[in-house]
Amino acid sequence: MADIPDGELYPVPQRLLDPAQCPEPYISSLQQYKELYQQSIEQPDEFFGKLATDLLTWSKPFNRVRHGGFKYGDVAWFLDGRINASYNCVDRHAIENPKKVAIIYESDEPNQSENITYGQLLRDVCQLAGVLRAKGIRKGDTVAIYMPMIPEAVTAILACARIGALHSVVFAGFSAEALRDRVQDAQSRLVLTADQGRRGGKTIEIKKIVDEALKSCPMVETVLVCERTGADVPMTPGRDHWWSQEVSRTPTYLPPEEMHSEDPLFLLYTSGSTGKPKGVLHTTGGFLLGAAATVKYVFDYHPGDIFACMADVGWITGHTYIVYGPLALGATTVLFESIPTYPTPSRYWELIAKHKITQFYTAPTAIRALRRLGDEWVEGHDLSSLRVLGSVGEPINPEAWHWYNDKVGKGRCAIVDTYWQTETGSHIVTPLPGAIPTKAGSATLPFFGIELAILDPVTGKELTGNSVSGVLAVKRPWPSIARSIYGNHQRFLETYLRPYSGYYFTGDGASRDKDGYIWVGGRVDDVINVSGHRLSTAEIESALIVHHAVAETAVIGANDEVTGQCIHAFVCLKPGLASGHSRAFANDLTKELALQVRKVIGPFAAPKRIYLVEDLPKTRSGKLMRRILRKIVAGEADSLGDISTLADPSVVEALIAKVKSAA
Ligand code: WTA
Repeated sequence: MADIPDGELYPVPQRLLDPAQCPEPYISSLQQYKELYQQSIEQPDEFFGKLATDLLTWSKPFNRVRHGGFKYGDVAWFLDGRINASYNCVDRHAIENPKKVAIIYESDEPNQSENITYGQLLRDVCQLAGVLRAKGIRKGDTVAIYMPMIPEAVTAILACARIGALHSVVFAGFSAEALRDRVQDAQSRLVLTADQGRRGGKTIEIKKIVDEALKSCPMVETVLVCERTGADVPMTPGRDHWWSQEVSRTPTYLPPEEMHSEDPLFLLYTSGSTGKPKGVLHTTGGFLLGAAATVKYVFDYHPGDIFACMADVGWITGHTYIVYGPLALGATTVLFESIPTYPTPSRYWELIAKHKITQFYTAPTAIRALRRLGDEWVEGHDLSSLRVLGSVGEPINPEAWHWYNDKVGKGRCAIVDTYWQTETGSHIVTPLPGAIPTKAGSATLPFFGIELAILDPVTGKELTGNSVSGVLAVKRPWPSIARSIYGNHQRFLETYLRPYSGYYFTGDGASRDKDGYIWVGGRVDDVINVSGHRLSTAEIESALIVHHAVAETAVIGANDEVTGQCIHAFVCLKPGLASGHSRAFANDLTKELALQVRKVIGPFAAPKRIYLVEDLPKTRSGKLMRRILRKIVAGEADSLGDISTLADPSVVEALIAKVKSAA
């Protein structure tokens, strides 16, 4: 069995519990957390019924809290309740306080930020929702959103929610081909986009990518183009319309569609073990509750706080913690268009000082990158407004955790290492700022309603007690768990609920240490996590294989100091090309192959290393042994274990030599 990690316990910073310095945390002791957690497990109907009534506004109250389970995959929450997510995120706050700032838009250029009030957001959302209706979009239709990080991206999401259309946001770093696949899979008839994007001082040709993607998407009837830069981009007559012109003709109020709690709210594509990305489907009431509850308790959000999540709206973190969670609570949310190093590596810290940010949420990869650039960039900025620092996307290594805690938090903030997934909708393992002592590198304890299990990966038996290691699963449904995969419920069952019957399987390995703290180790399936972006090995392999020179490929994740993992690709060329090629030929081909991956998936998926090899390690029955490739790349070729099952053990020597010569 793997070693069980451990680490020193760090108490809740005293400052957070001092009423003279900070608002009193909602959960202010470990004991209180334990009691509430116990209640959430033993009396879930009372616990979640109350939470859903306290945090959300229902146009018709629900009469049953829970239904179904993991056995049949028929999970439902808040049955018969009627609710609209845009009403909850916009109207109710606009009615109470229309002048309150909903969104602080921090543009790529630091001197161009802009505030959008709840009153304004309501008008914007209603107008765009009206345009969508006028273009024939109805409840249950899917709308693709391919947009830069501008306020209209938030408006787009909420406008869909207002009329009951499912949004399918595609991260604007995805290539035209990846966008095409997602539009086709979701059968989206309308695409919301922008002329161009701006990021780190560079221009991104958003509309061009959309045009390319839509060449093979005949189902798309309408494209609305938001004017981000005002560039002159080609418009297809009849199909493409300018956003501003369309909304300016539309009334500023449109009543929200009354939705059932279990009506779908959105789909979001993510990578799994197999090649084709899957559209993870979330429903309305449960998702919204998970989002609101975790912003309240995990970030200890109090009225007046300025909440800043640095993710992109194209990923689940942006959905839950830029848009739905903070806005459901009536918070001010920061929308950051730029990158942490533009114009200098002080950008985050300037942002915090400028807007007096109280909760700041980013990824270990950004923390590691900034740490490497030196402390001088973070020193001298007024970070005193901060109370909670969040981390998400991958395990945070203790060095990065300490740097975040010492240099950014100055030892006076809570660090919340939040573990969750696209499928979980909101945090499932995480510290609570005022209550749970932390350990550097551990996501600590389960959130309310989450009953965790560590399973033996082979037997599926639950490993009870402390000091155990295995795969991480959850024993019962919680409100924000995904309900299905769009158009393929069978795949949902097979991926998450069938591997270990009666459990939701996360795909991650984890340990529970001697104090009951959870340490998430990383994926146990063929998913690679590069800078917090999820990619499947199969997805990258199928991108490479379409190249005319390629016979076969094997892609693995290797450790990387900054990005967590990086991609290494082993490529066998077609006979005739395989051996005796010149160095120049190999160089050109490697470049072409990297380009190929950028083209099929997106720049963030490009392999860091590509090895042109003669053969791959396979068993006699032809099964590829990725484990051997991983070991060779990790420099552990002396502990390959038993290689006698390989069809041709001599392959290994050649691979070792290849990897060495490339290093
Ligand atoms: C990983 C992102 C360790 C994990 C919200 C998971 C983490 C995958 C953490 C989901 C964390 C996310 N500690 N690992 N705090 N947060 N992960 O769907 O492997 O993009 O399965 O959701 O990221 O990635 P996804």
